Formats: sequence, C-alpha cells, structure tokens
Amino acid sequence: MTRSSTPYDAVVLGGGAAGLFYAGQAGALGLSVLVLDHSQKPAEKIRISGGGRCNFTNLGTRASNFLSGNPHFAKSALARYTPTDFLALMERHGLSWHEKTLGQLFCDQKSGAIITLLLDEMRNVGAVLKLGVEITQVVKTDDLFELTTSDGPVRARRLVVATGGLSIPKIGATGFAYDLARQFGHEIITPEPALVPLTFEGEAKAEFASLAGVSTPVIASAGDGRFEEGMLFTHRGLSGPAILQVSSYWRPGEAVEIDLFAGGQGAEHLKALKKDMPMKSLGKALETILPKRLVEHLDQSGQLPDWPRLADVSHADLEALSDALSHWRLKPAGTEGYRTAEVTLGGIDTAGLSSKTMESQKCPGLYFIGECVDVTGWLGGYNFQWAWASAYAAAQAS
Ligand code: FDA
Repeated sequence: MTRSSTPYDAVVLGGGAAGLFYAGQAGALGLSVLVLDHSQKPAEKIRISGGGRCNFTNLGTRASNFLSGNPHFAKSALARYTPTDFLALMERHGLSWHEKTLGQLFCDQKSGAIITLLLDEMRNVGAVLKLGVEITQVVKTDDLFELTTSDGPVRARRLVVATGGLSIPKIGATGFAYDLARQFGHEIITPEPALVPLTFEGEAKAEFASLAGVSTPVIASAGDGRFEEGMLFTHRGLSGPAILQVSSYWRPGEAVEIDLFAGGQGAEHLKALKKDMPMKSLGKALETILPKRLVEHLDQSGQLPDWPRLADVSHADLEALSDALSHWRLKPAGTEGYRTAEVTLGGIDTAGLSSKTMESQKCPGLYFIGECVDVTGWLGGYNFQWAWASAYAAAQAS
C-alpha cells in the first residue's frame, strides 16, 4: 500500500493562524487532518505579531472592522466564533492577556505561547503537521483531491487552503492560494499591500526627512477610512497606527488628510491657547500642544502665519488656521509594499464562497480560510479573529 492510499478527511495547506486552528477544530470533530506548510517553522506571523506579544483578537470585533467586496460576508463566521470563545480557549491553556487600547488584546506570555496552544490543540486530536513540504500540483477527481508534494502524493476528501496573503515574503508568504483559486474558477480581487507605511518621493521625501522620529496623535483620513490614533514620520514617509489604518483605504494619487488636533475641535484649542498665553507667538504657543519639530516645519514651510502675540489675533483668523491644520493634505507617492505590510487587501472573491462554511461554490470540498479571502481587518487584532472565525466556520461544515 502506498502512503497516499488512505485519503485524509481534510488536508490543510498552510500552517499559519487559520490552518493550525482549523486542524484542531476539525480534528475535535473526528476528522483525520494533515497540515502541510512549505516553511520550516509554523505560524511565523503569529510569532512576530504584536511586537512579540500577539494582538490575538479585538473585543469590539464587528464586520464593519473589515474591508471586503461584500461587507456582509464576514458576519456569519464572526458571529459564530467570537473573541470570548478564543479567550475561553486561552484560559483552558493557562494563558492570560491584557487590553492595551481600543479593545486590542495581547498575550501576557510571548506570542510563541499562542503557537504552542494551536499545536497542542491539533496534536491532542491527532492532526498531523508536516513542515518544509512544497505542493506542486492539485487535481480534483470525482470526490477526492490528489496532491503532488515534495513529500509524496497525498489524497484528501476536503482541501482547506490557508496559505495567507502576500505580506512579508521573507517569512514564506506566497500567492499560492490565489493561483489555486484561479485554477478552480474563482475570481481574485486584486491584492494590495495594506496596514503598511506610506512613502514620499523626491522633494516631499527631502522636505519631511527632518521630521523622522516625530510622532503625534492625529485624525488621519483617506477614502472612507478615518482613524484617530498616532502618526509617526519616518525617513521614508509616514507610519504609526493612524497611517497603517488609512493605508488600507488610500489609493495611489490621492492625498491623506491629517487633522493635527486629535479629538477634533482645533478652533477651540487655538482659542484656549490665545486665552492662556496671549503674549506668546503662535509658534511658541503651538509647541505646547504639538511636537516642536513639527511646529518648526510648519513654520518654515510657510504654513503658519506670523503672529508674534496671540492676543492680537481675531477668532476668525484662529478659525481659518484651525481649518488649515485640521485638513493638512499630504500626498504619499506609494507604500512600503509587501516587504512591511501587515496584511494583503483583496484576495479570493467572496462571491464564489459560502459565508457559512467558506466552501467554494465552484468546487465542493474546497475551502478557503484566513487572509487569502477578500476579508481584510483593521489594525488591532481583527485579522487574527478573522483567521480563527473563518477556520471555525469551515471546520463546523465537516
Ligand atoms: P498566515 O500568513 O498566518 O499563514 C500562512 C501559512 O501558509 C504560512 O505558514 C506560510 O508558510 C504557508 N504558505 C504560504 N505559501 C505556501 C505554499 N505555497 N505552500 C505551503 N505553505 C505555504 N494580525 C492581528 O490580528 N494582530 C496582530 O498583532 C498582527 N500583527 C502582525 C504583524 C506582522 C508583522 C504581520 C506581517 C502581520 C500581522 N498580523 C496581525 C496579521 C496576521 O498575522 C495575519 O492576518 C494572519 O496571520 C493570517 O493568518 P493565515 O493563517 O490566513 O495566514
């Protein structure tokens, strides 16, 4: 008998967040599961996530925290496996967590503890993980998937594709899921780097280079995205959570609009400055609420009026300045690309998938879960919650 003579109930391609979680869940339902990954280590993105502490979920997860061609697609899976469900799993494994901000939960132990949790879950139910395996061909016969791999032939009743998106090729990201989806007749929504720093070129790059390292809370807007978080100037352009968030909504050629008065109400801030320090110049007064180097940059680039004493400035002029500083338009040339992007926007068109089970509507038994699907979360634990929830939905279909 050859090794491939007994088909697995499910073969999972990709041993990342979604693939490993699926293996534990499907194995618990009695399925024989094999996970194949071409990397030498599983779930490397979990390891490097959240500064090594994995922002593994977000307490406020809703479908509205995701970008997708179909904004309703994620609802069903997210409702059936919630952040609370994952917390219960963490508790069972003796792991603890803390909320940093905005519902973002981080593991108190290192992110490796989450990988161990996922590996323990799958091994406890008999699922097998094989690393360093290249998948060279997938063929569907009547009711089986036949795979050619560097580890020999493999057969499966279900094929679960969890090879993720294109972000960070250095640690094993490939477009495998998209190629396989196309092979089975699926449409792909053009993938783009997302949750990624924005870059300047030419004069703008030189102009902002002196601000590298300056960070300040802002409201950043691009397209339909509007986020109140920190912004950081880098040697190449803009970063920080507010910028990573709007990068998913920004399109080349467009400007990002920055409100330098976090919390809005710039005019009120300026009026308060006039009241509290009437003898100060505009620059000196602004330095009490904005970083000094940023104020100097605004001044030197002619964006601040020459007001030696705030006492002499009319409220109408303060309002006009507030308007300008609340709608500061910066035009990035591009993004840092997949080299540093946390996720990939776009992916397998949800129109060809069941929102209940993640099963292909083109090919029964074929499932796509996790980041390869056209469901992209905001920064803040949403992408892992999608990995857990989509994997759970597929496993329950067993
Ligand atoms: P994932 O990328 O995790 O796994 C895919 C697996 O498939 C990998 O193991 C890969 O080796 C394998 N693979 C790829 N191509 C293959 C092929 N051809 N053959 C075989 N195997 C193949 N999200 C979040 O919610 N909170 C956070 O804190 C962070 N932090 C973060 C930091 C950084 C630096 C990055 C890059 C990303 C994050 N993310 C995040 C995003 C999160 O990591 C991501 O959305 C999930 O890992 C996606 O899970 P998947 O299982 O879909 O893909």
